[in-house]
Amino acid sequence: MDRIILSGGTPLSGSLPISGAKNSALKLQAASLLTSQPLVLTNMPELADTRFMVQLLEQLGVQVFWPKGSGRLSMHAEAITSSIAPYDLVRKMRATFNVLGPLLAREGHATVSLPGGCAIGARPVDLHLKAFEAMGADIHIEAGYVKAAALRGLKGARVVFPFVSVGATEHALMAATLARGETVLENAAREPEIGDLASCLIAMGAKIDGIGTSTLTIQGVDSLHGANWKVIPDRIEAGTYACCVAAAGGGVTLTDVVPSTLSSLLDVLSRAGVSIETGEDWIKVSRTPSSPLKAVDIDTQPYPGFPTDLQAQVMGLMTMAEGASIFRENIFENRFMHAPELRRLGADITVRGSEAVVRGVKELKGAPVMATDLRASVSLVIAALMADDETSISRVYHLDRGFERLEEKLSGVGVTIRRASGSDE
Ligand code: EPZ
Repeated sequence: MDRIILSGGTPLSGSLPISGAKNSALKLQAASLLTSQPLVLTNMPELADTRFMVQLLEQLGVQVFWPKGSGRLSMHAEAITSSIAPYDLVRKMRATFNVLGPLLAREGHATVSLPGGCAIGARPVDLHLKAFEAMGADIHIEAGYVKAAALRGLKGARVVFPFVSVGATEHALMAATLARGETVLENAAREPEIGDLASCLIAMGAKIDGIGTSTLTIQGVDSLHGANWKVIPDRIEAGTYACCVAAAGGGVTLTDVVPSTLSSLLDVLSRAGVSIETGEDWIKVSRTPSSPLKAVDIDTQPYPGFPTDLQAQVMGLMTMAEGASIFRENIFENRFMHAPELRRLGADITVRGSEAVVRGVKELKGAPVMATDLRASVSLVIAALMADDETSISRVYHLDRGFERLEEKLSGVGVTIRRASGSDE
């Protein structure tokens, strides 16, 4: 297994391009199952997760054309040859569960493995299944598989989510595009990735109102057609690199971004003493290395609140801030696995349930650490940028799941970083 080795202490400069959003791309990939015509995605991030979704789509009969380095993915689900998503594929990446709704809506039946829990929490799928039941599907769970059937097609329904779920909103939205009549999704998630999915579905012929609000109204249509769609920029990747610059100091312009989707993070960084300038599709992040970071509290919330997917990164940054920061994680029950690893670098972090207190320290020292999940691992990169000496991060396959060309992008702005084969594990 590979390791990433990096050294801190060098201010960063230059510009850093942001890729297409992983969490949008994965759902857009699933949406290709809704039509017998080609769906072509551009600005497509080449990641372990998106390649993994391709494997599943191919298994279901989708013809895929994705030349390496092109950023252009063509998916043609002319005929669906299987509507079974097996355990081996769903277990490795939860977002593959999101083929259930499109298969059910188009084929009238689907058998998809239950995803199970993962490192950051139990992550049940009950809200997804309740939405499909409300739309007339029969759902049975048998031997770890969800067996869903709506042999006469799904019908429109009013679905009120008891709390906000990104995945359940996206899943119900996709299925509703082909249901008979009107579906209303209330207390829907408002993440920009949902707006991207809804807009792509509209380009495919779907009828959807309320994008960007917590009520989505969908008028079902008989069929959808193909489309070309550009994946929105990855706000979490952009936010992560903004934290890298804040950590190392210097000045870097992030390009190909939508600054408004990062308002909550940019506000946190400004309050921490980082200078932020924004344009239409760029963000310049700067900090004089000698000017100290100030402690800021974080309370994760659904969009437009502070994203759980940036909590670990800001924690990495706050390890050397002046004062104490309180982190409240309200979305997932076990999302502080980075804390013990950050402590190995010298951070002072106390975790109690869903709250963590980070007391800024004067110095961090490089050490061997281990990545535990995608966002947790990149918080180690951020802390390592402030540490003396080298830090070696093992289990980097977590980083490869969600950060396209991480070493190339970071070395492009001045980070001394390399990948080595083999690990200390
Ligand atoms: C999406 O996960 C993202 N994943 C996550 O990003 C992100 O952290 C999360 O949304 C919140 O923003 C993808 O888009 C692929 P949820 P999702 O349903 O859809 C509970 C990353 O690092 N819940 O909004 O699974 C759930 O357990 C990943 O890129 C139920 O109880 O998140 C959680 O506590 C990690 N029952 C909360 O709701 C359900 O049926 C919110 O989860 C569904 C969810």
